[in-house]
Amino acid sequence: MTMSHNIGTSTRSLHADDVLNIVSDVAPPMHLSTTFRYSDDPSALVPAANLISSDNYPTTHIYSRASCPNPTRFETILTSLLNGKAISYSSGLSALHAALTLLNPRRISVGEGYHGCHGVIALFTRLTGLQKLDLNCDPSLLEKRDVILLETPVNPKGTAFDIAAYAEKAHSRGAFLIVDGTFAPPGLQDPFLFGADLVMHSGSKYFGGHSDVLCGVLATQRDDWATQLLQDRLFLGSVMGNMESWLGVRSLRTLEVRVQRQSENTARLVSWLHSALHAPTPAPGSDESAIQAVLEEVFHASVQETEGDWLSRQMPNGFGPVFSITMKEEAKARELPSRLHYFQHATSLGGVESLIEWRTMSDATVDRRLLRVSVGLENWEDLKADLVKAFRGLAGL
Ligand SMILES: Cc1ncc(COP(=O)(O)O)c(C=O)c1O
Repeated sequence: MTMSHNIGTSTRSLHADDVLNIVSDVAPPMHLSTTFRYSDDPSALVPAANLISSDNYPTTHIYSRASCPNPTRFETILTSLLNGKAISYSSGLSALHAALTLLNPRRISVGEGYHGCHGVIALFTRLTGLQKLDLNCDPSLLEKRDVILLETPVNPKGTAFDIAAYAEKAHSRGAFLIVDGTFAPPGLQDPFLFGADLVMHSGSKYFGGHSDVLCGVLATQRDDWATQLLQDRLFLGSVMGNMESWLGVRSLRTLEVRVQRQSENTARLVSWLHSALHAPTPAPGSDESAIQAVLEEVFHASVQETEGDWLSRQMPNGFGPVFSITMKEEAKARELPSRLHYFQHATSLGGVESLIEWRTMSDATVDRRLLRVSVGLENWEDLKADLVKAFRGLAGL
């Protein structure tokens, strides 16, 4: 079902899949079958060649590598939330793999971002000779059907890039813009409004939202691409599982309220930390002096310096719920997580619970003094108090 643009995000999360309510259960059932009976009516039989374009899709299923009820429901909701036809995958990286399989570029212009995406690019370099260019490469280096892959906000820092500017750069060369919007799910950012050709998400983060689902999503406003992506996925085999998509649907119901609260918590924490770090002449023994003794820098879109108003237009409802800090010394970065009570020391992000990661634990390329923080739904003042205690401890106060 296509819902009109002025229907709110949470309403879409709760009702975009109403069309799939073919049983009376209010909570959608979990379907585990991998195979589905064909119709008893010979005239209703749809041959395989017509499967993807069949009018019956998404309520007719044959084999779960092609489609099945729970992932289809998950995709139906996301199609409404993302303003483009959504296709789900077994992970964020398999979604990127599918995107590059679709576009098969000769060159890809990409920034630092999530290190795993560079792993996928390296696979393509091995298979196709795909050449990696810097994100800010000269536009003349890009040719028709090449790709700019823009992660915004970017992992691990949580700072943002101007989608419209990169869309213009790509399109001026006949290239395509893929936006990895993992750090700013619907409600915070719609990359299609600023010219993205393909939007990608690691759904393992905010879509799942409870640190218990691995999945990825691509969204496109081009019907031909959507059809090709579905056909490709049939052979890539990288479909999302039944259990995951069932959990995913349950999680999408609360996406907007979760993300709004996480975004607000983050803005408050970042603003407090940033002010404390830049407080002039803090009193000896104060929280500010402890923070200034050990903390080097805070990174987040809310404290990012930008030219013009692109950032507030791109993210009008708040910024992403992930930020990063660097400590003055690597040893303090190593120690900070074990001094915290509410922030669990683990990788990943986007769950209801706050996490912190000494980022070098999972990313070999990053500054060893950097910690990435994924802010959850706890009361922000409790999170602040936890951080204050840890910073004071590290500063010997
Ligand atoms: C920005 C970004 N893109 C893609 C991925 C990969 O997603 P997944 O772990 O679901 O494969 C991640 C994972 O952390 C990510 O942060």
